[in-house]
Amino acid sequence: MAWVGSVLSANELELWTRMVNHDRRHSIAVARRVQHMLAGTADAEDPRWISAALLHDVGKLDASLGVLGRVGATLAGAAAGHDMAEAWSERRGITRRFGLYLRHAELGETRLRVVGARAEAAAWAGAHHDPAAWDELGFPAGVVTALDAADDD
Ligand SMILES: [Fe+2]
Ligand SMILES: [Fe+2]
Repeated sequence: MAWVGSVLSANELELWTRMVNHDRRHSIAVARRVQHMLAGTADAEDPRWISAALLHDVGKLDASLGVLGRVGATLAGAAAGHDMAEAWSERRGITRRFGLYLRHAELGETRLRVVGARAEAAAWAGAHHDPAAWDELGFPAGVVTALDAADDD
């Protein structure tokens, strides 16, 4: 995907490429929406925000769950409470994969920091399901609004 390659650094692209098709498509759709929402603002051409959109779900790599498995993980998390995710991720088999999936934000941030991705992309991956953490990011308010509104999962 030429556009993605023009936005991401080589190390970011290497991670992005390892996501499954479904997640790559989602990430491009989110990034295009962010670009559209920021059009005409000073942040529109800033690659930090587009890379944050492209990489926000990269932590889903760790769970390697298909669509049905994700539905299961989401339901299990809702039933047992998201706080169980850490304990589950220490277990084995499908329980472990559910736990990893529910922790994809934190795992994505870690992966991005390890490969030396842009700090903003790593920070957004870690915070994207945690509105209480958004003020501390120090991103322009319009950027956070766009990143959140563009993400439909
Ligand atoms: Fe996510
Ligand atoms: Fe997402």
